[in-house]
This record gives sequence, C-alpha cells and structure tokens, in this order.
Amino acid sequence: MSDRAFWKSFSGLIAALVALTVVLFILAQMVGDKPAKTVEATADAKAVAERIKPVGELTVGAVPAEKIASSSNRVMDAIIPSANAAGAEDKGKKIYDASCMACHAAGVAGAPKLGDKANWGPRIAQGNDTLYSHSLKGFQGKAGMMLPKGGNMSLKDEDVKAAVDYMVSQSK
Ligand code: HEC
Repeated sequence: MSDRAFWKSFSGLIAALVALTVVLFILAQMVGDKPAKTVEATADAKAVAERIKPVGELTVGAVPAEKIASSSNRVMDAIIPSANAAGAEDKGKKIYDASCMACHAAGVAGAPKLGDKANWGPRIAQGNDTLYSHSLKGFQGKAGMMLPKGGNMSLKDEDVKAAVDYMVSQSK
C-alpha cells in the first residue's frame, strides 16, 4: 500500500469514528433524558432505603405512652413495686418519666424543675387550664421554650394532662 492510499483510508476511518461518536452521544442524550428514568431512580432510592434501614431504632426521650404501658409494665412492677400503686398519678408519672423528665428533672433549657416549689408556685397559680394549654400547644416564656407536648407529638392530650397533673402534684 502506498503512503497516499494509507492516509486516505486512515483519515476515512478517523472521520467514520468521529461520526459514530457524535451519533452515540446524541443517542445517549435521548435515552438518558426519558422521564421514566427519574421515576425508576426514586423507586430505587426507596428500595435501597428500605433495604439499608436499621434493624432497630433507639428512641430517646420520646417513647409512646402505650409502649411503656404495655411492654415494660411487668418490668416496672418488678423493679419499682410501688409504680403501679397510685392509679392516675402513676400514669402521669410514667408519661413524665418518658417524655418530660429529660428537661424537667434537671431544669434543662430553663424548664421548671420537678419539686421546685418557688418556680412552680406562680405557674400553678395560673390554673390548670393554662398549664394544660401551654403544655399541649407549646409556650415561650421568659425562661425558655416549652415545646408542644414536650416535643413528643405521639402523646394523647389526656396523657400530657396526666403528666402535668403529676408534675403539679410533686411541686406544690
Ligand atoms: C425540651 C425540653 C422540655 C421538655 C421535653 C418538656 N418541657 Fe415543659 N417546659 C420546658 C421549658 C423550657 C419550660 C419553661 C418555659 C418558660 O417558662 O420560659 C417548660 C414549662 C412547662 C410547664 C409550665 C408552663 C407555664 O405556663 O409556666 C409545664 C406545665 C410543662 N412544661 C409541662 C411539660 C410536660 C407535661 C412535658 C412532657 C409531656 C414537658 N413539659 C416536656 C421545656 C421542656
């Protein structure tokens, strides 16, 4: 093959490859932009999240009241024999222990401490209805921010009220 003939077919080959590249590029763009792809991607992401989700979940400070009542009742009875003695107050205590103690035991973030009569006095003087509504809907006071239901939205209104009753009874 002469040099000339070689260069002719060689540049022909290069041109063909360039053309092929362009065609493939355009094809890839068309395929890649299909909306179906996006749908698949979200479905995949969900499936992946489902597969890699943790086996157990640790809930800190916010355990639904029913769970405590049902699952750890016997354990509670064994550890604290008096825990079930007081009826309504007992329910309030359990809810307090699970959802309110985190702030109200030590006075975190300005929360009035359980048993701190001086701090609770004027609050109790507002009347139960105000205390209930501040606990259910949240309350921004001078000391800090009380979140609605203490941040545990899974609590029923009556559970929160029971916890308030318990806190008040311990702080008078
Ligand atoms: C994240 C912290 C936090 C948690 C959890 C929390 N509280 Fe509070 N709570 C506060 C703070 C802070 C205040 C004080 C706000 C102020 O007076 O400035 C407060 C105030 C209160 C008051 C007094 C309201 C008033 O009018 O003076 C009541 C009653 C109360 N909380 C009940 C509860 C109950 C019931 C729970 C559990 C269901 C709970 N709190 C959980 C932070 C918390």
